Amino acid sequence: MKKIIILYFLLGFTGFAYGQLNKLVLDVSNSKAKILPTMYGIFFEDINFAADGGLYAEMIKNRGFEFESPLMGWLEPNTNRFSLNENSGAAEIIKIQGGNSNRNFCRVTINNDTGYVLLNEGFRGMGIKKDARYNLSLLAVKQSGDIRGINFLFVNNENKVLGKTSVMPDGQDWTAYTAELIATDTEAKASLKITFEGTGVIDLDMISLFPEDTWKGRKNGLRKDLVQLLYDLKPGFLRFPGGCIVEGRTLAKRYQWEKTVGPVEDRTVIINRWNTEFRHRPTPDYFQSFGLGFFEYFQLAEDIGAEPLPILNCGMACQFNTGELVPIEQLDPYVQGALDLIEFANGSVNSPWGKVRNDMGHPKPFNMKYIGIGNEQWGQQYIERYKIFDKALKEKYPDIIIISAVGPFPEGELFDFAMNEMKELNAEIVDEHYYKPPQWFRENSTRYDSYDRTGPKIFAGEYAAQSVGIASPDNKNNWECALSEAAFMTGLERNADLVVMSSYAPLFAHADAWQWTPDLIWFNNLSSYGTANYYVQKMYSIHRGTDLLSISFEDGEAVTGQNGLYSSAVKDSVSGDLFIKLVNTSDKLQQVFVELKNQKVTDKVDVLKLTSENLSDVNSFDNPKKISPTESQIEVENNHINIGIDSYSFMILKIGLKQ
Ligand code: AHR
Repeated sequence: MKKIIILYFLLGFTGFAYGQLNKLVLDVSNSKAKILPTMYGIFFEDINFAADGGLYAEMIKNRGFEFESPLMGWLEPNTNRFSLNENSGAAEIIKIQGGNSNRNFCRVTINNDTGYVLLNEGFRGMGIKKDARYNLSLLAVKQSGDIRGINFLFVNNENKVLGKTSVMPDGQDWTAYTAELIATDTEAKASLKITFEGTGVIDLDMISLFPEDTWKGRKNGLRKDLVQLLYDLKPGFLRFPGGCIVEGRTLAKRYQWEKTVGPVEDRTVIINRWNTEFRHRPTPDYFQSFGLGFFEYFQLAEDIGAEPLPILNCGMACQFNTGELVPIEQLDPYVQGALDLIEFANGSVNSPWGKVRNDMGHPKPFNMKYIGIGNEQWGQQYIERYKIFDKALKEKYPDIIIISAVGPFPEGELFDFAMNEMKELNAEIVDEHYYKPPQWFRENSTRYDSYDRTGPKIFAGEYAAQSVGIASPDNKNNWECALSEAAFMTGLERNADLVVMSSYAPLFAHADAWQWTPDLIWFNNLSSYGTANYYVQKMYSIHRGTDLLSISFEDGEAVTGQNGLYSSAVKDSVSGDLFIKLVNTSDKLQQVFVELKNQKVTDKVDVLKLTSENLSDVNSFDNPKKISPTESQIEVENNHINIGIDSYSFMILKIGLKQ
């Protein structure tokens, strides 16, 4: 490595500055490895209100009265701001025994129709936008008396009406009603107020409200702005639905994909394990309606061009909690669940599970290629269970690619044990997780340089730099973390022959209802933004390329943090572009001189730069693009590029190849 301290003139500056000259050589013609389309993906888990209250655009919390406190979200004492006359009416919950999984409904008795209201508070309020349309639906049956009308009103905290609609119930059997609400103003914390006309008794269930303007205009679909942010990442895969949520605190509360498909009213609501996970962020109203269920995840993956990667429970509850185990001799239903899932995703419409997919409106297979067995499992108990899944899956579906766990940490006894076992078992891809300080990311860009190439491929399935400490509520999505991840990712890319998938974690957080930080995307009920980390992911993903190239110092040494400089390079053989990633984590500008060898390039270089003045800077609702890429151009001279990489910055150089 040759580095010379030089005195150089900085274009656009009036003076001189000292810096480091880094002479790099890039061999354009030699493809070292293929970069797989799955290289940069996303990991979705229902944490931080990511599903209900987030991506799933339902605005009514506890629409089916199925929460453990069945009126939670409805007329909570502290939201009862209507000075109700106690005798004006009452709401009670009736639980049907057995049968349908949606067992509860709400029986409303109206004695005085001017005095009684029901109110739903939404997910930390409801975000409504002036002139936007909202689709209301409910099931109702009149029991006695004559309730002639049910009114639905958007109201703000001062009880000001911001939109109104009504339905006229007439059925003596359960009947579905729909209506449209138009918001007369924009309000971040609206509620839905329900009033009645006439007196009598009426039963209500599945009271639901969605914006009309959802992703792809799908009725009762997903939040458009949030899916757009995912789409813009051009992710290679979508890992879902977790995370620890797959495991459950107990086996009874594990994620069971079979219960998340079919009509939404039949999907069994269960507690969300993040509800009580952290004492410092209790979220008692966090449940899973599964309105965003496995069909919707597959559809989302298809929409955003990502390979679906479902993760299944392997007969073990979360080992950080109860660690309950399914006895080996009782594992069959779990294994069968995995086989059934493949049939659901890929099977013929004449197969039992393929028919379920068809009935939900998707006759074409989802073409699922990957399946994850377990999340962060560890120990002999996992290996024993994994082997059984592996055998059964490969026997029936030899082409399915299995992702296996190697525990929650990227090193140590649990990791070493699991990794050795996985090597012995010829595992295809193992899922490594690292939640570490930013410095760890800067120091570990060489992590995979010396990995055994005869073992399993690597999925860096969950990673994020923690500014304070793992799961600390004070962690920030600051520029230091994002920059450190950018540096680390040059190491993922330089090892693309081994590292075939990677994803930041977690993906989403509701600003008023999160449990875990940092997160890639923050949202409230009206808006959303990508963090600095989001832009790092996006820059890598949209400049993924198809072939790994070698970029090094003149003596052949890789650029792995010497003086804070990191680099990797790829070629896109389809577009004929070259992408050079350069990260400077030092506090000094670094001059970089790149010699492009063995192929002529075009005269102009597009430069994409991500930086910020302070390492503690963050994006926010008020300044969502404070840290976001800027574009400029420089010239190529005689197949050489000469560029200054600002302190604390991440750049991508895009260069066209001449034919
Ligand atoms: O991303 C949050 C949690 O961190 C995931 O659920 C789990 O896999 C990891 O421990």
